[in-house]
Amino acid sequence: MASNAQSEDREIFPSPKSMSSPAKRRKLTGRAFYESLGNPSYILAPMVDQSEFAWRLLSRSFLQPSQQSSLLAYTPMLHARLYKETQSYRDHHFQPVRTSFTSPSTQSEAYLDGNPINDRPLIVQFCANDPDDLLQAAKHVAPYCDAVDLNLGCPQGIARKGHYGSFLQESPNLIHSLVSTLANNLDIPVTAKMRVLDTREDTLRYARLLLDAGASWIAVHGRRREQKGHETGLADWTIIRYLRENLPKETVILANGNILGHEDLDQCLQKTGADGVMSAEGNLCDPGIFAGEEGRREGEKRGEYWVGKDGKGGWRMDAVLRRYLDILYRFVLGKDPPLRTPLFVPSKTGYNVQLDTSSPREPTPTTTPPPPIPQPAPHQYTIPSQQRPPRQPRRPTTPPQKTQTKPPRHTYHSPPTS
Ligand SMILES: Cc1cc2nc3c(=O)[nH]c(=O)nc-3n(C[C@H](O)[C@H](O)[C@H](O)COP(=O)(O)O)c2cc1C
Repeated sequence: MASNAQSEDREIFPSPKSMSSPAKRRKLTGRAFYESLGNPSYILAPMVDQSEFAWRLLSRSFLQPSQQSSLLAYTPMLHARLYKETQSYRDHHFQPVRTSFTSPSTQSEAYLDGNPINDRPLIVQFCANDPDDLLQAAKHVAPYCDAVDLNLGCPQGIARKGHYGSFLQESPNLIHSLVSTLANNLDIPVTAKMRVLDTREDTLRYARLLLDAGASWIAVHGRRREQKGHETGLADWTIIRYLRENLPKETVILANGNILGHEDLDQCLQKTGADGVMSAEGNLCDPGIFAGEEGRREGEKRGEYWVGKDGKGGWRMDAVLRRYLDILYRFVLGKDPPLRTPLFVPSKTGYNVQLDTSSPREPTPTTTPPPPIPQPAPHQYTIPSQQRPPRQPRRPTTPPQKTQTKPPRHTYHSPPTS
């Protein structure tokens, strides 16, 4: 049984051979660097608390193994000063090698982040406002990633307080110094992720500043700094198009914003003329967003992708959760995932489909349908009376103690300020 599980994993996750580490090469920059990564046109955005190793692998797992390295991914934003200063922060946020107190020989064994077998190409993103902090932090991660990115887009209050992200927009000299320090002193390229400014001319000047400082590419989020929370609104692809038309042809531009479904990806590329398109929220809603039609067909075959009578469909939550847990088992814990019962597949014809239980993870319907079994009407869950749960006690008349409110969705709340 375990070997079954392993053979299926080989289909979902890349084997070392199909995703070998790019050879150590001389430092390439700009378009040459982008080409050396295989001209990736789909990009998994940096997302605090979201775009970690397991999520990146999950998102890649929907692509064919040979395609998985074509998805460029960013880590969540890391705080450069904390990363430079604090061992525990480093250990907690980026784990490229196995470490063991008992066996020092494991120190150089590739583990999770930036693993050349399954987590490349990878960009590590930092927020920073001090060039030396940024450089020292970047040196720690440089052996394990393809480039380091400077976050110039974070619009949250914590970034205002800590003076980083989009709140560096008013400090062009500092931005120049941050980018050029990495461009001049780091063994790998530096990139920058910016927001658009109030006018397209200002945005163009800003982009030029980044490129002149040595950024190998710019990822442009088509929303202004004020566009957040209830004011998020739509990203402006026309400004990205304007950059495309006014920057030298060899400039690599990644477009970001307004990607709700797979079909938006290519539309964005076409409308903006950008080299690549980056998705954050769309990818969170649908980690298979980059896979498209081919991925869906594969998913349907496996019973993981569900198509309704109206022809619309989506990845099943239970299937996605299994994939995610499998990643944690295999790559984080280093164990085979447990044997699981096959995914429940209801029959389209009103018959229950008998599943071949010889493979725990890839059910195949038997060829002869079993006799029809009356089905309850869809979406009617009836609990037999003897199994009904006991009635809940009445609500207390005094109002419950106020619980601590959760932080708002999608805020950057990890790194402390200052
Ligand atoms: C949960 C979440 C976390 C984010 N964290 C980061 C981050 O760490 N660094 C960054 O540059 N942008 C971050 N962003 C912004 C996204 O990278 C992206 O620029 C933005 O969401 C717009 O893209 P979208 O329209 O595809 O969502 C985050 C967005 C979300 C939703």
